[in-house]
Amino acid sequence: MKRSLYEHTLPAPLNSFYGEAAIVLGSGLGYLTDSFSQSTTFDYRDIPGFPESTVEGHSGQLVTGTLAGRKVVGLRGRFHYYEGHSVDDVTAPVRLLAHMKIPNLIITNASGAINCAFSPGEIVAVTDYMNFGFRSTLPLAGHGKESAATIRGNPVDLDWLERTTKRLHREGIELKKGTYVWVLGPTYETPAEIRAFQKAGGDMVGMSTVPEISAAVQLGMRVLVFSCITNYASGITPEKLSHQEVVSAANKARQRFSYIVRTALESI
Ligand code: HPA
Repeated sequence: MKRSLYEHTLPAPLNSFYGEAAIVLGSGLGYLTDSFSQSTTFDYRDIPGFPESTVEGHSGQLVTGTLAGRKVVGLRGRFHYYEGHSVDDVTAPVRLLAHMKIPNLIITNASGAINCAFSPGEIVAVTDYMNFGFRSTLPLAGHGKESAATIRGNPVDLDWLERTTKRLHREGIELKKGTYVWVLGPTYETPAEIRAFQKAGGDMVGMSTVPEISAAVQLGMRVLVFSCITNYASGITPEKLSHQEVVSAANKARQRFSYIVRTALESI
């Protein structure tokens, strides 16, 4: 792995935790850390180098433990660009994980379906993305000489994905795949924007993940991304979108989501 881009002293137990994988948990998916055994929880506010949360009351938590026989780090809660954070802030957790020398990263998120073959409550593996945030997603741009070349090639580890897909297939689960479109938010898209993304080849749309993928790839981590479809994107159905809909679809997906993440961990 490359140099860490993380220059802070960590709480001692984190310095000596040798995780095999980390999981960034998106909106409504944080419950996965409840299944960790031998878990230890750290509040984001106690981790040097993490930005201050802009959301009153909960700053997020980093949980270490064991899941599916792997030593893992779970990140409950993430920093979004639309909250006013910079790309450097948004990617601080990923840079921390690289500093901890964690080689494998599973990023999860909630997204809206552009592709009509996807429905709310479904989990789709992200195989590529489009940056409709129209800004560089590389953390500490200009600091890393190697940075310009790092996002060429596949953003996710297609071999790891293939092993995971095959295992799931043997269990009778067909994992769908798609291209994720990153938008800045915080407003949902207009129907015209979604039609444009559809024509461009996008399958789902969301407001996170792409800066984290860039940072992880830049730092030499292997990456998988699973998206929980929480709604049809704007204009695909006549209903209005709400945050409540996002959370309740994520809840509906619980069992399958946990199963897919465990299978991915077993397939490392
Ligand atoms: N658009 C953008 N971000 C989202 C959506 C959506 O429809 N659903 C969940 N996150």
